Amino acid sequence: MPSTNDEKSAVMEQLRVDLGGRSYDILIGRGLRDQLAADLAARGEGSVCAVVADKNTAPLFGEPLVEELRRFGVRAGMYVIEPGEESKCLATFEWLLHEFKALGLKRHDLVVSVGGGVVGDVSGFAAGCYMRGVDYIQFPTTLLSQVDSSVGGKVAVNLGSTKNYCGLFNQPRQVYLDVSVLKSLPEREVKSGLGEVCKYALMADAELYGFLMENADAILALDDEIMPKVIAWCCHIKSEVVAEDERETTGIRALLNYGHTFGHALEEITDFALSHGEAVAYGMKAAGLLSNKMGILSDEEYEMHHALLSRFGLADKRLHLDVDRFMEAMNADKKAGTDTLRYILASHIGVVEVREDVPLELVQEVVEWLVG
Ligand SMILES: NC(=O)c1ccc[n+]([C@@H]2O[C@H](COP(=O)([O-])OP(=O)(O)OC[C@H]3O[C@@H](n4cnc5c(N)ncnc54)[C@H](O)[C@@H]3O)[C@@H](O)[C@H]2O)c1
Ligand SMILES: [Zn+2]
Repeated sequence: MPSTNDEKSAVMEQLRVDLGGRSYDILIGRGLRDQLAADLAARGEGSVCAVVADKNTAPLFGEPLVEELRRFGVRAGMYVIEPGEESKCLATFEWLLHEFKALGLKRHDLVVSVGGGVVGDVSGFAAGCYMRGVDYIQFPTTLLSQVDSSVGGKVAVNLGSTKNYCGLFNQPRQVYLDVSVLKSLPEREVKSGLGEVCKYALMADAELYGFLMENADAILALDDEIMPKVIAWCCHIKSEVVAEDERETTGIRALLNYGHTFGHALEEITDFALSHGEAVAYGMKAAGLLSNKMGILSDEEYEMHHALLSRFGLADKRLHLDVDRFMEAMNADKKAGTDTLRYILASHIGVVEVREDVPLELVQEVVEWLVG
């Protein structure tokens, strides 16, 4: 088949997310757009595909994919949304449903999400609702969406300013993680993804910690040989957690939110001036200190925890924010009807636990240290 990608297509790693009848494969490699086009074309003449992208990812990856599909005889429609979180709303969702209908998408056809977490979340949600559900494929194009949002099947839109308030657990049919697409990512988005990558090491895997420290330069340069391994490692951790607690009922899936209680508060009070992963990195920095102050993370491992974030240039600035506002924003994370905040704390590199016995004064001390 003709190749329009600059690089030779190669699947370098493959994972299976084990969810019984909803199991699916994650392919990781270079130049996977060719593979995706070929797989979609193999569905036969006359099949229909709705490709959803945003204004940045459409010209880079969405439109070339649609052209290739059309050459193969697939009836492909291209739907382009505005980049950014504001597009993750009911208006975009509704617009997509009407467009799918106008294209003639039927139950056995496919939606393909080509973009970051915003595109993946809104189009995955639309796919899950259209005609009571059509399959969708994720072709995530940010590091954050490759290691996090494209795996696990949570799809949603925001309800007003409340994040992810309307959505589904809707697993994709397949995920294509192409490291070639990361080359065009703005540096800030790379850092955002690296925040989540470090999270996996700190919350779940000391061996990954060692690998990240050892290969930090290559990872920061988005090296083609190393990145598939890093991404596969992170997806493996996430998919194991998801396989154990798909619908967040046992509490295990919540451990993936290490650093997020502080992180969400930071995102809110900086008005999203920090990207999600950057805020989570500061959140982990705070969670690490809190763990140390609680006496559950040794001084030595606390230093190691800190060193990983520093190695990736994360959480390394003084923030100078209002401590009271920060504390208020943290309280918003409280579970309704309870008075205590639950904290995910680290007891070792790669091991976290949930604690409800954290004294408020200690949290205040940590927040003052972080933002005061
Ligand atoms: N579903 C989940 O489990 C889950 C998990 C984590 C985050 N999320 C959601 O993901 C969203 C954030 O996703 P994100 O960080 O990918 O942000 P995003 O989708 O907003 O993308 C960030 C920016 O990068 C641009 N971009 C994307 N790929 C590019 C590329 N290859 N080259 C150049 N520019 C590119 C986009 O156009 C956008 O401007 C949030 O809405 C968050 O709630 C969902
Ligand atoms: Zn996150």
